[in-house]
Amino acid sequence: NIDTELLRALPKAELHLHLEGTLEPELMFALAERNEITLPYDSVEALRDAYEFGNLQDFLNLYYQGAAVLQSEEDFYDLTLAYLARCAEDGVVHVEPFFDPQTHTARAITMACQFRGILRALEEGHKRWGITSRLILSFLRHLSEEDAVVTLQQALPWREHFVAVGLDSSEKGNPPEKFQRVFDQVRALGLKAVAHAGEEGPADYIAQALDLLKVVRIDHGVRCTEDEQLVKRLIDQQIPLTVCPLSNVRLKVFSQMSDHNIMQLLKRGMCVTINSDDPAYFGGYLLDNFLAVRDAIGMSKAEAVQLARNSLTASFMDSETLTQHL
Ligand code: HPA
Ligand code: ZN
Repeated sequence: NIDTELLRALPKAELHLHLEGTLEPELMFALAERNEITLPYDSVEALRDAYEFGNLQDFLNLYYQGAAVLQSEEDFYDLTLAYLARCAEDGVVHVEPFFDPQTHTARAITMACQFRGILRALEEGHKRWGITSRLILSFLRHLSEEDAVVTLQQALPWREHFVAVGLDSSEKGNPPEKFQRVFDQVRALGLKAVAHAGEEGPADYIAQALDLLKVVRIDHGVRCTEDEQLVKRLIDQQIPLTVCPLSNVRLKVFSQMSDHNIMQLLKRGMCVTINSDDPAYFGGYLLDNFLAVRDAIGMSKAEAVQLARNSLTASFMDSETLTQHL
């Protein structure tokens, strides 16, 4: 097995990370106080104790409730900068974070406030730690396609400040098909498309995301193994999967880490990557996810190097930066 310090030192990119999911209980309480909001918990410990999830929806309920403390540009800045500080400790050299604008515009927090806070922190993170970034705007799939269309319109003034659009939230019953028209608009704007698929939803949602939304990466995708033809296609076309091991165990996609299929997929030649998804809720940042997989399943030095390399090649960084890291 690869040594922890070697893993930390490998240059890695994080491609599946929700900024709202990096809101640590301590910061949640601090922002609640700053914004004069009362949380339905007595303490940081009581809040952490509530992080026991039976499925994706259980988690999403707490995640949306927590995000309500984010109100000002400064709040989005503090959230994002705290995440980047953790990245620096873990040897993360490049990040492609998601944010969910609809979670905030629904509370009358403007798109401008969100973009300004996040972008300023990404610049500061680059200055302080040399971390490069590409931002991804993500639609909430439990809302209507019309709502996504309005959200895309609201984001147009920041067109040059994000590179892709994603699709997250409650997967089952909200197939990629529901968002086909708005993703046509996304791609017509020259933006890349990605989507969560095959986390709780069936393998068919992965095929739909590829065929109907024309995504260039699949977020999660671990249920691909239920369709052998699809597995072959993902390998042939080298479609990256942004896998989130601790998330999958905490949301009961796999009952324990030793059951996780990521290393089997890697051994079959799929372009899989390791990511943290919502680290404040799932018990670990990027390096913790690598260590959890290593300790439960095993990870050789060559496999770790391949996983780190996949994260760089599957990223949207420019080719010059990529060459520097490889
Ligand atoms: N799945 C779907 N929606 C999400 C997730 C996830 O893992 N994290 C934050 N929003
Ligand atoms: Zn996710």
